[in-house]
Amino acid sequence: MCGIVGFVGNRGASSLLVEGLSKLEYRGYDSAGVAIIEDGEVKVKKCKGRLVNLEERLNKEPISGTIGIGHTRWATHGEPSDVNSHPHTNSEVTISVVHNGIIENYLKLREWLTSKGYTFHSETDTEVIPNLVDYYYEGDLVEAVMKATSKMEGSYAIGVICKNEPNKLVAVRKDSPLIVGLGKDEFFIASDIPAVLNHTRDVYFLEDKEFVVITRDGVTLLNEDGEKVDKEVFHVTWNADAAEKGGYEDFMLKEIHEQPKAIKDTMTSRIGMDHSISIDKINISREQLDNIDRVYIVACGTAYNAGIVGKYVIEKLAKIPVEVDIASEFRYRDPLITEKTLIIVVSQSGETADTLAVLRDGKKKGARVLAITNVVGSSVSREANDVLYTWAGPEIAVASTKAYVTQLIAMYILGLYFAELKGTLTKEQIDEIKKEMLTLPNKAEEVLKHKETLQKFASKTYMERDMFFLGRGLDFAVSTEGSLKLKEISYIHSEAYAGGELKHGTIALIEPGTVVIATVTQESLSDKMMSNVKEVVTRGAKVMAIAFEGDEDVHKSVDSVIYIPRTHELLAPVLSVIPLQLIAYYMAKQKGCDVDKPRNLAKSVTVE
Ligand code: F6R
Repeated sequence: MCGIVGFVGNRGASSLLVEGLSKLEYRGYDSAGVAIIEDGEVKVKKCKGRLVNLEERLNKEPISGTIGIGHTRWATHGEPSDVNSHPHTNSEVTISVVHNGIIENYLKLREWLTSKGYTFHSETDTEVIPNLVDYYYEGDLVEAVMKATSKMEGSYAIGVICKNEPNKLVAVRKDSPLIVGLGKDEFFIASDIPAVLNHTRDVYFLEDKEFVVITRDGVTLLNEDGEKVDKEVFHVTWNADAAEKGGYEDFMLKEIHEQPKAIKDTMTSRIGMDHSISIDKINISREQLDNIDRVYIVACGTAYNAGIVGKYVIEKLAKIPVEVDIASEFRYRDPLITEKTLIIVVSQSGETADTLAVLRDGKKKGARVLAITNVVGSSVSREANDVLYTWAGPEIAVASTKAYVTQLIAMYILGLYFAELKGTLTKEQIDEIKKEMLTLPNKAEEVLKHKETLQKFASKTYMERDMFFLGRGLDFAVSTEGSLKLKEISYIHSEAYAGGELKHGTIALIEPGTVVIATVTQESLSDKMMSNVKEVVTRGAKVMAIAFEGDEDVHKSVDSVIYIPRTHELLAPVLSVIPLQLIAYYMAKQKGCDVDKPRNLAKSVTVE
């Protein structure tokens, strides 16, 4: 789970590689390095810590050269250290490799290479790759990389350079993302588009086991049999600014503020008062829908939390039973999957290893797999039977915010689409929800105006060790996301509980001064929820509530209330999550945490 880049051209590679890596730090940031061909030699500079450490090192000890590779790491095999940082090389430092993924059979390969006289210096799985390439190298780098990868099991996107072929970069992927950027007389490889966007908008998405051979003269794509492959150039239409901070202190705050636009963009052309619900090119007939006997929504982390809302929504609107599960659990529990199963996988990045495994396994067993993803060209988008994109734009902060609200919008769109198809709602009922959905971008803007109140709340509570998020129904679903946000960026322990479940154990944790965030937007459950709030207030909890404007009675029972614009109760999570995100953000800022790059985390979990 790392970021890789590569450059071939006529400009200095060093600064271009570092610039590319700076756009990939969301993939990992515990060490970084580059390898560049300088005067016919492979020169490597790498060090533990953030990219800035590498930059300082390169300022003091610059490397010239116009062909190179770079890496930003999120440690899996071997602690973050200088020696475990990438790029890795063979002992003679003639071959250098950057790698994103995990070589599962590396111990076997390492043992075998050791028996052939090779020595190893790091604890990483990656170090076997340059040595394997070295073993097979007989004057043709492409052939050696092909032979080496045929022995490797696991996932990889790798970039390789070699002293003996100083004008060439070879790269290949399997189960880890890799794109090729096509500039004017210069070329790039990268794990993700933002790394190349300042230099080109034209890219190739590599498929599994496709090799790319890059020289200054051009790019050749080969399949695993060494045959040339033709590929369409993908033109990126979003702006490079979309991946910059644009005046905000952090990407997370910027992305929280981008939510009204992200909600709007995700609805555009799918929800309108003048046409039926449209889900892009996805075509599900009434007959096919009737034939589906179970729906699974499967995802990880925040995307899973969006799935919990999805279950409520699809069951309520379309009356189809839905199970929601965590991808890493689902894939190993031998779930019941047949040709009558619809699996909805949700993934912002479209690269999460467990989610991708569920997709592949589901397809193998005959299920139809529909992906909700934010990244065009991601593995999930390419492999699913159907794709519904969330148009959130690039999400850089590790903590997901705008992707979550757009995943919710995708769930409403699907729920309404199924309802329309099955006739479970009248046209008037559908129109009422659609009409309300179209007001969400403006209402989300209104919610953002509460940020100063939330900042003050955070300044009083940021020293807490534990916090609780309570809700019932969809308010419980959104509480799971509020709690995850707080944990991951502020390192404050928190739990989300269904209000009615409290008395079955958790209430024992409530003591005078415990901070509780209660979301109370579901009208049919609000009396019961307020009883639960009173139960914790009686035991001394300090409660902040999130409630709809007009529910003025709520403030009588709690310490403070954030009133959000009223909307259809099914749509409430889109608005109620925003104060929860801001609470987490301001608590983390008060504590001095790096909100964009929380400890131990990476944006894209491309390993199991
Ligand atoms: C939390 C967060 C993670 C991701 C999870 C799945 O803020 O970002 O929990 O939601 O790793 O990632 P995707 O959606 O890319 O599959």
